Amino acid sequence: MTLSRLGIHTLRNLEAVNLRPSPRINLIYGENGSGKTSVLEAIHTLSLGRSFRSHKHKPLIQWERDRFTLFAQVRHGGAEFPVGMERHRNGDVSFKVSGKPVGSVAELASVLPVQVIDAHTFLLLEGSPKIRRQFMDWLVFHVEPSFFPAWKNAQRCLKQRNSLLRRDRIEPSELAVWDRELIELTQRIHECRLRCIELFEPMFLSLLEAFIPLPGVSISYTRGWDKSKEYQQVLADNFERDRQLGYTQSGSHRADLRINVEGQPAADVLSRGQQKLVVCALKIAQGYVYAQQTTGQCIYLVDDLPAELDANHRATLVEWLERLNTQVFITGVEREPLLADWRDRAEVTTKLFHVEHGTVSAEAESALQ
Ligand SMILES: Nc1ncnc2c1ncn2[C@@H]1O[C@H](COP(=O)(O)OP(=O)(O)O)[C@@H](O)[C@H]1O
Ligand SMILES: [Mg+2]
Repeated sequence: MTLSRLGIHTLRNLEAVNLRPSPRINLIYGENGSGKTSVLEAIHTLSLGRSFRSHKHKPLIQWERDRFTLFAQVRHGGAEFPVGMERHRNGDVSFKVSGKPVGSVAELASVLPVQVIDAHTFLLLEGSPKIRRQFMDWLVFHVEPSFFPAWKNAQRCLKQRNSLLRRDRIEPSELAVWDRELIELTQRIHECRLRCIELFEPMFLSLLEAFIPLPGVSISYTRGWDKSKEYQQVLADNFERDRQLGYTQSGSHRADLRINVEGQPAADVLSRGQQKLVVCALKIAQGYVYAQQTTGQCIYLVDDLPAELDANHRATLVEWLERLNTQVFITGVEREPLLADWRDRAEVTTKLFHVEHGTVSAEAESALQ
């Protein structure tokens, strides 16, 4: 999928933005505070109903305005269709795809998949398992259709089970009902994740191998409960402890995807620059697997690239993005370093945008030479 048009109205400091992005590389430069990240936030919000910067919706609405509106023309294969959303200060929200209201964010996310690479992403290796689980589940969501319903139902079962655990008297038959469903869903979630990791791991390792000499890199997936036991057994064995804690300790909600170097956590061994590149490889490998397993392409949003990677590491990421053959939006403060990364890649259609005090203007193609 690519955006052939993008409209942003009264989102943060962006008053009225209308762009015709390149189907490939879009470079967005401007001073700090000019509105670059806000452009990426707008695309992300159109895709997932929320920004990557904050889960709160109100800060996105321009001060003293009562709503923001987003619009895009999406190209997928030979077809083109509009996607739009509007969010009001009073909490009202509407999403539309091809003029028809869309009920859930999950539906929206499958229409317009996006990947973000920003300063926060680089915490993937050292951050909490939750961040890595979310990272892993992005791909699982997009390539395993049975994953999302199972995940959603498992969340519901866990909530019910946990509230039951906190009661003074627990009716065994009541608990058994939730356990039975949870066991089945947990197994299904684990199998979906496992299938995805089997596709993902070789892709990630081959990307890395071609670009950075890091011997001994491996991925370790842990499913969230003792690998020597059935989940049913774990629930039974942990019952007293779960009851004391008031929640279910083990399960697919505790899964993790760790990156090791020679058996040590990557965050403990690699330099900052290497870690950032490993994170980029993780993100790009997902885009490759996504493209391989579906009919679409995901859009990449890369915030403040020159600030995050030095020229060498940037060149590697640029090479990966180019080969991915997808639509990319990259921001940076200075025009020159951004342009320099793409100048010698004449075969890639690149557009340059300048952001100034919330207005975005396209530069003439001749400016790219
Ligand atoms: N709700 C809002 N309404 C109006 N302006 C906002 C709002 N939220 C943030 N801003 C302003 O929007 C500007 C854009 O920020 P940002 O997109 O992060 O800039 P950049 O990425 O170019 O540094 C900032 O100057 C910020 O103060
Ligand atoms: Mg920014």
